[in-house]
Amino acid sequence: MGRYDGKTVFVAGASSGINLAIAREFGLEGARVSIVSRSAEKIASAAADLRAEGVDVVGYDCDVRDHARLEEVFAEAHKRFGPIDVLVSGAAGNFLAPAFKMSANAFKTVVDIDLLGTFNVFHASFEHLRKPGAALIAITAGQAVHPMAFQVHACAAKAGVNMVVKCLALEWGPAGIRVNGISPGPIADTEGMIRLAADPEAEARLKNKLALRDYGTKDDVAKAALYLASEDAHYVTGTILNVDGGNDLGDASANCLP
Ligand code: HXC
Ligand code: NAP
Repeated sequence: MGRYDGKTVFVAGASSGINLAIAREFGLEGARVSIVSRSAEKIASAAADLRAEGVDVVGYDCDVRDHARLEEVFAEAHKRFGPIDVLVSGAAGNFLAPAFKMSANAFKTVVDIDLLGTFNVFHASFEHLRKPGAALIAITAGQAVHPMAFQVHACAAKAGVNMVVKCLALEWGPAGIRVNGISPGPIADTEGMIRLAADPEAEARLKNKLALRDYGTKDDVAKAALYLASEDAHYVTGTILNVDGGNDLGDASANCLP
């Protein structure tokens, strides 16, 4: 018997990486899962992989920047699986670029996917959420609170995501909806880390700065999502849970036990 038997889960940005691992974990725990991403081909392939593992899943192509398409998809998913118990918003884009060379459209593109996309996903879902009882989770990043060179777009967008979490937790709590965020640290085998620390030297430098001295796994993040969505977290709302090996604590490279 799975911990999410009979529950309905919706994950945005789930054709790959951390969000796909989250969808998989809920699915293996018995949930009926809807997944979306921009690419019809990639989302169909991700859904087929999950189905091969026994997950009851449906994939939709949907760009989180397109509110009208999100409305259609939520209506279809609701019709198929019923009201949403758990909603995860994790679609994101990122690349390293110096601010003075970044075009206004490059900045806008990342803000539109990460920040506007998160608002759109939560907003378009509202009438399809189980009330009371739904748990909403945004996937944010340490960049929301720690400025980083060459990531002004992603830092600004994720800072906004944290505030969307807190504002909606405040507004939607009375309807019995909890809203939280997960802030992963560097996670192994992800597109995010390929883009941010491509070579082994950069990876080693980064690991050496972490209190726990290693990257996390996609499952580490998925397990945190399982917790935040569960009854164990029924009094937890408006929080950002760091799953980051201590990344938020700052540079730990000098901290060695004698
Ligand atoms: C400078 C760039 C660029 C780059 C794109 N642009 N890549 N500028 N350096 N490397 C510019 C383009 O020139 C264009 O501006 C504008 O950005 C939009 O580009 P498009 O290709 O048209 O956008 P789109 O097709 O919507 O693709 C979005 C994308 C792309 C973000 C640019 O990389 C993508 O699809 N990413 C999704 C996958 C991903 O990034 N995963 C990692 C998420 S992890 P102009 O002016 O020319 O029109 C993550 C990391 C950890 O977020 C947490 C950090 C916060
Ligand atoms: P990833 O594999 O590239 O995942 C991003 C997903 O978003 C993909 O499935 C992509 O699918 C989808 N997507 C992108 N733009 C979209 C759009 N406009 N509409 C709908 N879907 C869209 O990257 P990841 O590294 O696993 O990152 C996942 C999440 O974790 C992101 O929110 C990221 O910011 C966060 N995070 C990651 C790390 C890390 O170490 N990797 C650290 C901190 C935070 P399509 O291309 O098919 O659309």
